[in-house]
Amino acid sequence: MTPHLIDPFARAITYLRVSVTDRCDFRCVYCMSENMTFLPKKDLLTLEELDRMCSAFIGLGVEKLRITGGEPLVRKGIMAFFRSMSRHLDSGALKELTLTTNGSQLARFAADLYAAGVRRVNVSLDTLDDDKFARVTRWGRLQQVLGGIEAARNAGLRVKINAVALKGFNEDELLTLTEWCARDDMDLTWIEVMPMGDLGNEDRVGQYWPVSDIRAQLSGRYTLTDLPESTGGPARYVRLEESGQKIGFITPLTHNFCESCNRVRLTCTGELYMCLGQEDQADLRKPLRDFPDTDAPLVSAIHKAIGRKPKGHDFDYSRQKADGQVSRHMSHTGG
Ligand code: 5AD
Ligand code: SF4
Repeated sequence: MTPHLIDPFARAITYLRVSVTDRCDFRCVYCMSENMTFLPKKDLLTLEELDRMCSAFIGLGVEKLRITGGEPLVRKGIMAFFRSMSRHLDSGALKELTLTTNGSQLARFAADLYAAGVRRVNVSLDTLDDDKFARVTRWGRLQQVLGGIEAARNAGLRVKINAVALKGFNEDELLTLTEWCARDDMDLTWIEVMPMGDLGNEDRVGQYWPVSDIRAQLSGRYTLTDLPESTGGPARYVRLEESGQKIGFITPLTHNFCESCNRVRLTCTGELYMCLGQEDQADLRKPLRDFPDTDAPLVSAIHKAIGRKPKGHDFDYSRQKADGQVSRHMSHTGG
């Protein structure tokens, strides 16, 4: 009996993104304020709870797990969690275990990740300039991340680069970043910056740079072929015929591909968000903690939550603030 998770619009939920911490060793200007207050430790799911939670989803048909944060690799003991998840890869229930990381800890963990069955990682990198990198991440050092990327590749992990598109900041690096990725056979995805959380305007590096404009600029240099493939998320891809490279574009709030959405997001405190663009969430920590000996209440809460997955996020903009801002931080929900 494996009751698959099917939402009210007949979409099978096969992809779970899990934030394992809200903490990070960077303070990217579009993501966090400089003096963040993080959640009390007791509110976070323990590693054991994360295991139970993810295993319950996998038991319900989730085939792809992406571990996010904050920065997942700063969570103490997280490698034990990865190793533990690999049992689901071995059984065949889980098809893919991946993570999104800022790369700062990859040099330390790349080999362990590979050993746990991870084959691909997404590394966030907005610029190849040391000073600009320091400016946008506040606390990050570019060379450490480049070392991490190299370690990941050497360990056998396929690396995809995610860059947040920031007008007046990395606009001038469009071709440099593209060519740098092509040299090492790395795909590159551009993400439109989202207004998240209450960051104020203090350190606003750059502004909204629409991916339509990136596309247009790229097509001045390369021959672009639209790729039909979709991963069930907001990313769309083109191939650059000259390099064979795949370039992705993510328009988090303006896209309209909700009909193929296959994913839900779990926060580090065990709230399940059924849609990135809406505030509705379900508390899964309570049924998990209240019933340490049985997963039945948790499974039932998951089913109930999936039953509330909305048709699409542009159906109910009234739930958001006037400027389209979602009031939670990316580091809480996971990128
Ligand atoms: N807009 C777009 N992307 C963001 N990320 C974090 N905050 C934002 C934002 N406001 C991205 C990171 C990383 C992923 C985890 O989320 O750059 O690629
Ligand atoms: Fe950390 Fe990623 Fe947020 Fe930057 S964007 S502060 S690396 S979680």
